[in-house]
Amino acid sequence: MEEDRRHSRPGDRDPRGDGQALEAAALALEAGQLVTFPTETVYGLAADAADPLAVARVFEAKGRPRFNPLIAHVADLAAARRIARLDDRALKLAEAFWPGPLTLVAPLADADAVCDLARAGLDTVAVRVPGHPLARALLARFGRPVVAPSANRSGRPSPTTYADAREETGDKAAAGLDGGPCQVGLESTVVSVLDGQARLLRPGSVTRAQIEALIGPLAEAEADAKRSPGRLALHYAPDAPVRINAAEPMAGEAFLAFGPSDSPFNLSPTGDLAEAAANLFAMLRAADRTRPAAIAVAPIPDEGLGEAINDRLKRAAGFVG
Ligand code: TXA
Ligand code: MG
Repeated sequence: MEEDRRHSRPGDRDPRGDGQALEAAALALEAGQLVTFPTETVYGLAADAADPLAVARVFEAKGRPRFNPLIAHVADLAAARRIARLDDRALKLAEAFWPGPLTLVAPLADADAVCDLARAGLDTVAVRVPGHPLARALLARFGRPVVAPSANRSGRPSPTTYADAREETGDKAAAGLDGGPCQVGLESTVVSVLDGQARLLRPGSVTRAQIEALIGPLAEAEADAKRSPGRLALHYAPDAPVRINAAEPMAGEAFLAFGPSDSPFNLSPTGDLAEAAANLFAMLRAADRTRPAAIAVAPIPDEGLGEAINDRLKRAAGFVG
């Protein structure tokens, strides 16, 4: 709390984003400034997608490599179709999962609405309609696409609470909206639908099985850095090294349990994957604060949402990217 007060600013700290905070956030976006805001997945650092200077500030604030493009967030499907060419399969996914934790990568339809820098120069665009009511209210009020990477500094775990978002990049934001803890806790599922091929670029809480049930088998994700730029980066890493698939902790390690355990950190005592996803980043941060020799994480089943959790854990442990 005290920390919040120290960094207090206009438009900030209005709980659950009453009208004033929302208005201040929209005005900040219009002025080319950055805004911390909640989505159902993780907190984002938002900027006007059409404004190259504002978008440059996002890359700067995160220390993000310029080759890694951003997701454009819009209020609804109609707005998404103005910036991206969604084919039949993309539309099926959009209709099934929007508003919600799915991002579609598709051919670009409007190069001015999402500037070159936001797309890292690609002729495709990533677009999503978030489900969080505050995100939706901000997008509706602003009326144009907003780029929003996760509000962490590049390479760090994504923030799933307002306090964590403030700690990561809050000093770079002109306004902020506190929407409480994020319900999903992992970043959106990213699916590209290009040249008649659908590919899973980033697993998330919309699972592979849910997607394939709607549009049939996904193609293998390409190693091509141009098509899957985000897969290159080392990600989600706390300060302490992460050891995954650990049956039990070694001396000096903090232990993130899954299922019954005496450990003070338990992703889900009942072994529930949705609960584990929601807890993952906040618990990596909490374990990190105890300054352990390493953070050992119990094995997580690789089915359903487990694919996304294990993806983040492998990257945090340095096994991918
Ligand atoms: O849940 C989320 O998606 C959160 C919230 C704030 O909406 N945002 C988020 O953004 O996770 P970010 O920037 O941390 O991750 C965006 C991912 C990156 O892996 C990036 O490489 C990929 O989307 N991406 C963006 N545009 C792309 C494109 N044109 N082609 C392929 N991948 C793209
Ligand atoms: Mg991110």
